[in-house]
Amino acid sequence: MAGNVHRAARGSRVAYLGAMGIQVWANRGTPAAVAVDPAVPATALVGGAAVAGAAAGGAESGNSRPEITHMDWEALQQTAGDCRLCELHGSRTQVVFGVGDRGADWLLVGEAPGKDEDLQGEPFVGRAGQLLNAMLQAAGLRREQVYIANILKCRPPNNRDPRPEEVLCCEPYLARQIALVRPRIILALGRVAAQNLLKTDTPIGKLRGTVHRYADTGIALVATYHPAYLLRSPLDKRKAWADLRLALANAKGPTP
Ligand code: URA
Repeated sequence: MAGNVHRAARGSRVAYLGAMGIQVWANRGTPAAVAVDPAVPATALVGGAAVAGAAAGGAESGNSRPEITHMDWEALQQTAGDCRLCELHGSRTQVVFGVGDRGADWLLVGEAPGKDEDLQGEPFVGRAGQLLNAMLQAAGLRREQVYIANILKCRPPNNRDPRPEEVLCCEPYLARQIALVRPRIILALGRVAAQNLLKTDTPIGKLRGTVHRYADTGIALVATYHPAYLLRSPLDKRKAWADLRLALANAKGPTP
């Protein structure tokens, strides 16, 4: 019975890896092993502290709105929901606050809500979200087990890049969410998330493959490609899988 359940779980994991375009090797008599980009070490910590992240100051010490640093979830969600600090409030259908387990070990950060997210009020519910769910499944995680948020809580018109002043207005909400969740690992999905969380202009291709630290919290941060990019560039799914493995390897330590 337990063997059947185990086989079924492995079968579905293999199916998800297949959907990600990742080849699964199964030797006779051994569990399925996954081909991983050998260029990425299992644990590649940069000197035990983040290089770029240190510039950001404390997770909340850089918070320009000190009242937010003491808010509980309810007050935070209410305040973000009423936010009119930048012009995006005028075009949004609703604020996309974040979703998932508020005590999760994993916190995933994307860029900003798209059309589907703006309509449904939840991050990553469109096509990119489906790929993200598949990636999580492949890593042995369910969507409900992680917390998912974005750099911006409101949709930029026509999905344009977030503007610096918009990021600045939204930053305190995300910083407080991170402080409340206290995750073991932050997975930054794409260039905008990675560069803003790490306060750097370094390209995403250079940020991935290394374990950073978020601000001065000690929370491990791994950067990977955005699922929407992976839909356009499926060959890079292999690298994203290597990033997930790196995150998995660094999600086990004590909560900082
Ligand atoms: N892309 C993002 O970065 N975030 C979402 O929530 C959806 C798509």
